[in-house]
Amino acid sequence: MKCGFDSRWTYMKYDFDTVTDRRNTDSVKWDVRENELPMWVADMDFKTAPEILEAIQRRLDNGIFGYSTLPEEWALSYVHWWDKRHSFKTDVSWFSFCTGVIPIISCAIREFTEPGDNVLIQAPVYNAFYNIIRNCDRNVVESLLTYRFGEYSMDFEDLEAKLSDPGTKMFVLCNPHNPVGRIWSREDLQKVGELCKKHGVLVISDEIHCDITDPDILYTPFASVSECCMQNSITAMAPTKCFNIAGIQSAAAMTPNPDLRTRIEKALYRNLANEPNAFAVAATVAAFEHGDRWLDEMRNYIYQNKQTVLDYVRNNIPGLYVVPSRATYLLWLDCSAFTSDSLSFAAEIRRKTGLFLSYGTQYGEAGKQFLRFNIACPRKLLLDGLDRLRRALC
Ligand SMILES: Cc1ncc(COP(=O)(O)O)c(C=O)c1O
Repeated sequence: MKCGFDSRWTYMKYDFDTVTDRRNTDSVKWDVRENELPMWVADMDFKTAPEILEAIQRRLDNGIFGYSTLPEEWALSYVHWWDKRHSFKTDVSWFSFCTGVIPIISCAIREFTEPGDNVLIQAPVYNAFYNIIRNCDRNVVESLLTYRFGEYSMDFEDLEAKLSDPGTKMFVLCNPHNPVGRIWSREDLQKVGELCKKHGVLVISDEIHCDITDPDILYTPFASVSECCMQNSITAMAPTKCFNIAGIQSAAAMTPNPDLRTRIEKALYRNLANEPNAFAVAATVAAFEHGDRWLDEMRNYIYQNKQTVLDYVRNNIPGLYVVPSRATYLLWLDCSAFTSDSLSFAAEIRRKTGLFLSYGTQYGEAGKQFLRFNIACPRKLLLDGLDRLRRALC
């Protein structure tokens, strides 16, 4: 589907080329040795939008950081964003604040399922899904995505078999999908919605990557697909991934279903996950009300980075296959020509060259011949990473 935004901008206003030193900032990603280059955990090496920095600065200048309320403009900024960016009409009353998408999913698991129940995910998938399901003493049930002719798709037969198990109570959808970079089609989502409804399984749709798509490409919000999808789901959304403000800890649980909303709000409250810190509201509102252009330029930059990787790999690293991706800034590298043990393979690359990538089995056994490569960085770092990868593999 086409998105009209990108073609509006005729010149680049923002700088994504400058390398910012993130060492000694208590960054999870950059807590590495001097010669190492981290391209693993999903945050970006770009400064966030100046519009967000200004909003945070204004809040900072007040100098007092007591407890915060949640003004209506917070939910309104989500309503505006989903409408203008994804043509999806929502209402302020549908949104509940949470400190993160993972806390939303974790609270939902505890609220809507019992210990010993099955929570279904589509593997390979974001590693935290496994951890939170297990930490809640629920069973992880995987429906493997089909990997055929170098592309991923949903296996609906397997999905239905697992949804129809009476022990399965919840399905955590990743839309768009981390790590394989797929944007699920309206038809896929419709089928998921119908199958989940038929088997009485609640859908939690994690849409944190929804704004990082290739230029002119849109994703489809799960809840926008049909009344059935809308009423049987809670969507988790945030500005944190696409504006690089994960440390601000701000997200929203969205559902128009009043019963689900009452229960998720209670669960967020019980788990102390519903209180915004002093910067969460200012950063979120600035992102969604004033971040359009920065985001579009960032998406263009990521797209160019993707093309750089594809060209580089084609010309320099025979045997490596980059799985086609229309969303996220994470590339899923098929290394089956080199290994079926991604953990030791990634460790060896790191030891030899200092390049720190995520190993595929973090995302389930289905990732055993894959590495995940985070390309959200200035091109200079990307080229350094590619050069290290070539040295390790060739
Ligand atoms: C699919 C997905 N969901 C959730 C998160 C983390 O969300 P939060 O930091 O808001 O808990 C990530 C981070 O990489 C992610 O990829």
